[in-house]
Amino acid sequence: MFKFLIRALLSAALLGLYTNAFAAPIVIKFSHVVSENTPKGKGANMFKQLVEERLAGKVEVQVFPSAQLFGDADEIIALLKNDVQIIAPALSKFSKFTKVLQLYDLPFLFNDLNAVACFQDSPPGKEMLDSMSSKGIKGLAYWHNGMKQLSAPVPLRTPDAAAGLKFRIMSSDVLQAQFQAVNANPQKLAFSEVYLALQTGQIDGQENTWSNIYSQKFFEVQPYFEESNHGLLDYMLITSQRFWKGLPDDIRTELEKIIMEVTDAVNGFASQENEDAKKLIMESGKTEIIQLTAEEKEKWRAAMKPVWDQFKGDIGAKYVEAAAACSK
Ligand code: LMR
Repeated sequence: MFKFLIRALLSAALLGLYTNAFAAPIVIKFSHVVSENTPKGKGANMFKQLVEERLAGKVEVQVFPSAQLFGDADEIIALLKNDVQIIAPALSKFSKFTKVLQLYDLPFLFNDLNAVACFQDSPPGKEMLDSMSSKGIKGLAYWHNGMKQLSAPVPLRTPDAAAGLKFRIMSSDVLQAQFQAVNANPQKLAFSEVYLALQTGQIDGQENTWSNIYSQKFFEVQPYFEESNHGLLDYMLITSQRFWKGLPDDIRTELEKIIMEVTDAVNGFASQENEDAKKLIMESGKTEIIQLTAEEKEKWRAAMKPVWDQFKGDIGAKYVEAAAACSK
């Protein structure tokens, strides 16, 4: 009996060793819609590199850029179905899951990325990472891209020049109201469709960051850009509650450390990425970048800011006030 017990214990131990040695790594698919040479694209690749250095054999990361795997319309659903484990949609793309994140689309709310960081590091900013937990979505971190710029077939020095033009927007009611406020015609469209829509004239103009404008070549099909900095493009790195809770504790803890490290890096180089992209666009000679005067910018602000009152109730006044205080 004793021998039998020893043999059984030994086989169980050996089986355990065997299973650990040959266990398949946990696969994390990280899908996104932008190019690899953007803040988010670089962040995703850096995450893969660090995970594979520090969790070699235990976790494998597969990155799918440029909407190769999932696009704007289906990536969050794919995450909830566990077809992909990490994504980082723009904060403008969550309105089906929470209204509070509409905050980030309010025009002229943040002066720059320092103001964004000031809010995101504050208690109300951190609280928003949990705003979709009842929907099964876990917010891991905020990643910056940058401030958005306007472009069109005509110079847009003042808001009246935008009247009647069709602008591509992300799937956000705030952005829709922002363009309606200047009597323009906003069109919700997936990111991957914007270049063709601009080229064929399905839409007249767009708003995005220099890094997206450069990497998607929008500057080749838009003769005028305004450095308007009127809005923000920022992301939330998310996973599903189910996937995250199901990870072994030690692996989850290491992944959290890596995410903090990558977040610091992305948020540190995002501004420079956009500056570099702007320079390359200027050097291309294919478009004109217009600097707005303080007076012209004030006209844009005055025209778009009434949008705040339309959405303040849904977002929550405490968030709007805390965010606005970061740009004072
Ligand atoms: C867009 O749709 O314009 C952006 O959200 C794309 C991105 O992820 O930067």
